[in-house]
Amino acid sequence: MRLLVTGGAGYIGSQVVLDLLQAGHDVVVVDDFSTGHREALARVQALAGRTCTVFGGDVVDRDLLFGALRGVDAVFHLAAFKMVGDSMDRPERYFRNNVGGMAALLHTMQEAGVHRIVYSSSAAVYGAQRQMPIQEDAPLRPESPYGLSKAQGEQMLEWMVQRRKWSAVSLRYFNPVGAHPSGSIGQPFESAASLVPRVLMALTDANARLAIFGTDYDTPDGTCLRDYIHVCDLSRAHLVALRALDEPAHHIFNVGTGRPHSVREVLAACARATGRDVPFDEGPRRAGDIASAVADPGRFQRTMGFESHLGLDEMVSSAWRWWTLNPRGYEDRERLPELALPELADPSRSLAPAF
Ligand code: UD1
Repeated sequence: MRLLVTGGAGYIGSQVVLDLLQAGHDVVVVDDFSTGHREALARVQALAGRTCTVFGGDVVDRDLLFGALRGVDAVFHLAAFKMVGDSMDRPERYFRNNVGGMAALLHTMQEAGVHRIVYSSSAAVYGAQRQMPIQEDAPLRPESPYGLSKAQGEQMLEWMVQRRKWSAVSLRYFNPVGAHPSGSIGQPFESAASLVPRVLMALTDANARLAIFGTDYDTPDGTCLRDYIHVCDLSRAHLVALRALDEPAHHIFNVGTGRPHSVREVLAACARATGRDVPFDEGPRRAGDIASAVADPGRFQRTMGFESHLGLDEMVSSAWRWWTLNPRGYEDRERLPELALPELADPSRSLAPAF
């Protein structure tokens, strides 16, 4: 198939592009490189031994997108801003980029006669929920402009399916962690406000310590529970979703493992993977955090047969490999001499081709 990936130069998008190329598809990327990296796509093509077609620009650029859609069978729409805290400070950017970008994309897809889409949604659409694990039919209570922007994208798709007979899949990502086992592509650090990159920073920057945001939650060890999923499992979910695009319907799937891990468990896994103790302080709760967010992955499993394969140890050891090989992300290919790869606790395990 010929497949368009918006945001294909981002953390998750680059992994999706790689998997699609390796599965033999022709891939077109649209990315404005505001947070994505050209270097990520260069590495993806080197890993795949194949090239993709890259359009540098925004999905709101109608002519650029129309050209990119020529001959395309389906679109993976990942291009979006994704920082919850930033969306609280600058909501208008999320409304313009995520909601406005989605609206423009749908319009141009309709013009181009492309009616199949896999949409990058988020567990942020749920907000705080009483029922754990969370099922897809839980009431949506987004608590940030980011979460709202993702929920609105889903609602637009609902109407395109109803009125225009589109086929759509919304994937509600839980907490993506980790990197490709080669350590060649991963999460760029400049945008990494999430837990694991912050732990790795605390391990490698003498001036940094991790703050645990709250130790008095009503959870087994007092810290928040999340559903972390390996980026390679998450990426594979996109290829599985492609198979659901054969009929006019809007499928909504959680993409998580269903296994909760506390902040303390993540710290312990990072210590195991790196052989180092994580310097940390127990701090106050972070505004807006919820005690627990865990997926019920059952619907995706039953409907499409999707299962995650990789656990927390594989997530953090692959993140560590990427970090040590790319201490300045995509900016610099040099790695720090004092962070040699043998420090990986169990490289054979983390590098096993389990996917
Ligand atoms: C993450 C994503 C969000 C996504 C959501 C889906 C980020 C920044 N947030 O939010 O985009 O929609 O999952 O559910 O990528 N923590 C610390 N200290 C730190 C950082 C985090 O203790 O320095 C704790 C947090 O309080 C939380 C857990 O670690 O309990 C995970 O935090 P984080 O990685 O930021 O993810 P979410 O807040 O779940």
